[in-house]
Amino acid sequence: MKYDQLIIYYFSGTGNARSAAIWIEKIAKQEGLKTHIINIDRFKTVDIPELTGKTLIGFCSPTHGFNMPPIVLKFLSKFPKAKNVDIFILNTRAGIKLYKLYLPGLSGVAQLLPALILRLKGFRIVGMQPLDLPSNWLFLHPGLKEKVVNSIYERCLGIVNNFATNILQGKRKYKALLSLPFDLVLIPISFGYYFFGRFFLAKTLVATDACNNCNLCVSKCPVEAIKTVDDRLFWTYKCESCMRCINTCPQRAIDTAHGFSGLIVVIVYVLIIPFLIFILKKFDILDVEKQSKLFEHGWHLITTAIFILLVFLSYRVLHFLMKYKIVNRIITYSSLSKYKFWRRYKPPEY
Ligand SMILES: Cc1cc2nc3c(=O)[nH]c(=O)nc-3n(C[C@H](O)[C@H](O)[C@H](O)COP(=O)(O)O)c2cc1C
Repeated sequence: MKYDQLIIYYFSGTGNARSAAIWIEKIAKQEGLKTHIINIDRFKTVDIPELTGKTLIGFCSPTHGFNMPPIVLKFLSKFPKAKNVDIFILNTRAGIKLYKLYLPGLSGVAQLLPALILRLKGFRIVGMQPLDLPSNWLFLHPGLKEKVVNSIYERCLGIVNNFATNILQGKRKYKALLSLPFDLVLIPISFGYYFFGRFFLAKTLVATDACNNCNLCVSKCPVEAIKTVDDRLFWTYKCESCMRCINTCPQRAIDTAHGFSGLIVVIVYVLIIPFLIFILKKFDILDVEKQSKLFEHGWHLITTAIFILLVFLSYRVLHFLMKYKIVNRIITYSSLSKYKFWRRYKPPEY
């Protein structure tokens, strides 16, 4: 083996990236390497075990919005510089299985940005591996069926074992670069999502009447984003939408408020914006439709700002109104995740 020691840092919302980190650690242990596996949940400082002998450092994380989650980017930006230390990056993505076909997720800059940050810090990148573990994105779709999850897991275990064996032997593996053309196209969306995820998606999580204040979600949240305000749970802007809370709540009391989110979109884009355009035109202030391409971009920024402001205000109002049973019921039953078919995501124990 080329290395004496392996250090893996991981962040994992619902367990996929953690599984990948454990699988790699297992192979390293079998090969007699000294291993350290470090969860970066709620990190305050970057802890680095003593670099003895030849060390390989790995980073495992889910992909969020075609990028690494903000907590990981923050961690990497604080990671100290080092000359010529080997590293690898593994991003878990939204794997799906349709009949017998395994469909991959999309990385965007989830590999490229960390690779750039670490390269600029002096590290040598020896492995870039995407891993299509089951999608956990419960805002968009129900959790995958257990049989599908198990099948995707089994396939990924083989991929990880192969990747780990190769890089531990000193071979370089850059599977992530195969999707480079797609990833480059996704760059604008990945940066847009960085704000959209935090300012909108995170504001779709609510606790329903089924919540018994066990506070498991508060204690498990990797970024301490869930607070108790007026005896009810409130998701702050720290939320990464990692889906840990909704997937692990023992009461199924956390929902993504689809009805409420849809209503906000309709209010902003069907009522407020057209009304604003109408007023500006009527009082001869500005004819939005007749402006230049450049103005169009500026106008998008303005409408996005209006949208974010409304989400900010309405989430607070909603939080206040949820104490009334009738509002709580309406929000709960207009959320798809309330219904039984909207399964929660649970990774298998491996
Ligand atoms: C908010 C959010 C955004 C996501 N964005 C992407 C994405 O851009 N591309 C992708 O392939 N998967 C995406 N996913 C799926 C996860 O990356 C994937 O399910 C991952 O394996 C979860 O890992 P974890 O269990 O360690 O959190 C997203 C999931 C969530 C919750």
